[in-house]
Amino acid sequence: MKIELRYFTGTGNSLKVLETCKFIFNESGNHANISEVSTNETNIQGSGLLGFCFPVYAFGIPRICSKYLKGINKFQKKQKVFILITAGYLDESGFAIKECERILSKKNCEIIYSGVVQMPINWTTSPKPPFPPAKEEAIRIIKKGEIKTKEIANDILNEVRKYHSFNYPKRYSKTRFYWDYLMFKYLGIQNMWRWFNVYNTCNGCQLCAKICPTNSIRMIDKKPVWSKTCEQCMRCVNFCPKESIYQSQGGDTKGKNKYHEPSFKPKPNNNSAQHFA
Ligand SMILES: Cc1cc2nc3c(=O)[nH]c(=O)nc-3n(C[C@H](O)[C@H](O)[C@H](O)COP(=O)(O)O)c2cc1C
Ligand code: SF4
Ligand code: SF4
Repeated sequence: MKIELRYFTGTGNSLKVLETCKFIFNESGNHANISEVSTNETNIQGSGLLGFCFPVYAFGIPRICSKYLKGINKFQKKQKVFILITAGYLDESGFAIKECERILSKKNCEIIYSGVVQMPINWTTSPKPPFPPAKEEAIRIIKKGEIKTKEIANDILNEVRKYHSFNYPKRYSKTRFYWDYLMFKYLGIQNMWRWFNVYNTCNGCQLCAKICPTNSIRMIDKKPVWSKTCEQCMRCVNFCPKESIYQSQGGDTKGKNKYHEPSFKPKPNNNSAQHFA
């Protein structure tokens, strides 16, 4: 069977999950193809199965992922789809799955599986804890996540249907839940790029600009400057070799653990040539 897999990732967790699925699928003789979401891709017809994996951001999916899903052409034949979400907390992601389901329900899709895989938290500039774990703890969480993903991939292959059900997260009241969700979705993501800044340890190496998945960083006077297309994915923050990036409004990063999935090597983005201008 031909299987198409699509992900968005800041720090490699969601890619790791889909790579693990791809391994299991191909081991059983399927042909799985994996690529990053791109809003230029509107036509993904012709596969027996389509799988998505996105991180959860304040209970929802990243803005770029909902744009991508909304932009996909309606499938001609009923398309089997699975949805996976990576999250620091298992009970904080049911709403993200609902968001995906709502969009895909208009695209002639049949959801055959939905699930959440717990992976290390990467939100280093979060205004409140929890922050990324220490290395050993992160490795422990990733190993567990990998085992869970293998089980999920086998369930999917064996046509075992499971669906992640939505419950309000234990740590939040309903009011607080919707407040955080709506604030991030309608106010936060439009404005938080303005809060980025660098400590004076920044040496102008340009890595942040080269690896940003949304090309949201330009180098001006040897310092990064952020723009409104930023998805808050935390790749720049967690990969900066000088640990120089922080956010105002409570997003200090000095002394905090930095995190990315250890095998994740972000590729330079398409526009990286212009960062050398
Ligand atoms: C802006 C932002 C918001 C986040 N919000 C949540 C959240 O509400 N609940 C949660 O469990 N994890 C949250 N996280 C953690 C990520 O969902 C988690 O670390 C994810 O696995 C990162 O995946 P990636 O490496 O593929 O980008 C958030 C991370 C970021 C950067
Ligand atoms: S990666 Fe870090 S040190 Fe390099 S330019 Fe960006 S902020 Fe500065
Ligand atoms: S600027 Fe940083 S946080 Fe924003 S999308 Fe790019 S890498 Fe991610």
